[in-house]
Amino acid sequence: MRQPALTTTATYQALAAHYIDVQPQTLRELFAADPQRFEKMSVDAAGICLDYSKNRLTTDTVALLTALARERGVERMRNAMFAGEKINLTEHRAVLHTALRMPRGKELTVDGQNVTQDVHAVLDRVKDFTDRVRNGTWLGHSGKPITDIVNIGIGGSDLGPKMACLALRAYSHPRLKMHFVSNVDGHDMDAALSLVNPETTLFIVASKTFTTAETMLNAQSARGWFLKTGTEADLAKHFVAVSTNTQAVTAFGIDAANMFPFWDWVGGRYSVWSAIGLPVALAVGFGYFSDFLAGAHEMDEHFRTAPLEENLPALLALVGFWNRQFLGCASLSIAPYHQDLNRFPAYLQQLDMESNGKRVTRAGAPVDTPTCPVVWGECGTNAQHAYFQLLHQGTDVTPMDFIAALRPTHELADHHDALLANCFAQSEAFMTGKTEAEVRAELAAQGVPEAQIDLLAPHKTFPGNRPSNTILMDVLGPHSLGALIALYEHKTFVQGVLWDVNSFDQWGVELGKVLAKNIQAELAGEPRPERHDSSTNALIAMAKSAQTL
Ligand code: F6P
Repeated sequence: MRQPALTTTATYQALAAHYIDVQPQTLRELFAADPQRFEKMSVDAAGICLDYSKNRLTTDTVALLTALARERGVERMRNAMFAGEKINLTEHRAVLHTALRMPRGKELTVDGQNVTQDVHAVLDRVKDFTDRVRNGTWLGHSGKPITDIVNIGIGGSDLGPKMACLALRAYSHPRLKMHFVSNVDGHDMDAALSLVNPETTLFIVASKTFTTAETMLNAQSARGWFLKTGTEADLAKHFVAVSTNTQAVTAFGIDAANMFPFWDWVGGRYSVWSAIGLPVALAVGFGYFSDFLAGAHEMDEHFRTAPLEENLPALLALVGFWNRQFLGCASLSIAPYHQDLNRFPAYLQQLDMESNGKRVTRAGAPVDTPTCPVVWGECGTNAQHAYFQLLHQGTDVTPMDFIAALRPTHELADHHDALLANCFAQSEAFMTGKTEAEVRAELAAQGVPEAQIDLLAPHKTFPGNRPSNTILMDVLGPHSLGALIALYEHKTFVQGVLWDVNSFDQWGVELGKVLAKNIQAELAGEPRPERHDSSTNALIAMAKSAQTL
């Protein structure tokens, strides 16, 4: 259905008018005016609590935002996605990562195919294979159990499994060391190969298309390195593939029996739940991998059935939309207060920015508002000692997502209280800030002379009133990680519907791929200066002359 331009709708205009009314009220004032603000502006589902009370909005704002979401068709599109309709219109594909975590026995038929049956048939193979590697009955060519797994993939075939393996470190098999090679930069592969022994290493070549240049070159290099000591016949014990492209996998020399398939209705950045999650299942075992899928499924069911007013992903999306559209915040900073989530911001960058970094609507018209903010971040407390200065006192307002677990998975005394204290203190400080009067009173109480107070006060004043969400779980584990990722997937989906963009293609990445191919040919052969500008020609010439050194 063709959508009217976002800003022309009556509800959007009502929100714009409402913004003018609410924006003079500070977060301090909003909290002071309503002692129940946290109760009203926090929701729990699938073991995750979202506290969005430290955002510059009121319950009226939420009512208008949910009305807008209904008008823009969020519920209709949500139902279409879950039902397997081809909502990825530019690639004419269904979007069914939710089917990857549906329990066995639930039926979903798309194009005459029982999708859940196919999913569970592959999961059975994943279980069998990962059990054998983990229990040491899958042996390398010289008869030794596998000790190292090298996942070769990029984008969605790297970020999800890498992030999840790190996040579930505490649940991992003690013998198996996980390595991830993604960059075409040979230093990446070189570093991994320097750590492993070909006799006890398993390579997973993970690529949805099995044509991605970086992954293909890395896979060829790994193969060449392996064949320095092993034979062609030994490859079957050391190379497996995850892909939708059986033909390309067999052409590469990996037996179809060693290939774990998935389907075109799984987007790369939504694929960690498919066989792309093989490194995760190897690391934590199939039981925990099933818990990971179950956590996501619980969030799916919540997203699918809860009214928007109580719907965690919808609320997270609507608050982010409010901050982007009306407060004009161009970036979103993610601060996991959990070291094992240290790749989570990078994972969210692809999820959000590759999905909603779009400038035309589903119908192809230019969007009439800004879309996806820049997503970035780093683990607390490290981030505090690096860039929080700018977030507290810089000229831009950057909303934050604080993410923490109430209980740790380690037994070290005192650390977790210190961590949580920092997390909660930061969101409080972003909200309250420190007024000039407070700074002056504090300095006066310390006996600082008046002239010195005049000098220091502007520097020590914090504007505060900076929006943040806090997302809490009991403990970071397979179930809560699954629910957390699904929360953000659906948040991205809802925002995409609000902006009316197709969140499931990524044409913007294709141009760079084509240009790189052309220049690579010139670096290997004759330069073609007529193709480029003077800067690119000079850079190519410098690289070519370095080849002769
Ligand atoms: O960066 C573009 C992209 O197509 C991503 O969407 C995808 O996750 C990545 O490349 C890797 O693709 P593939 O799994 O096909 O190698």
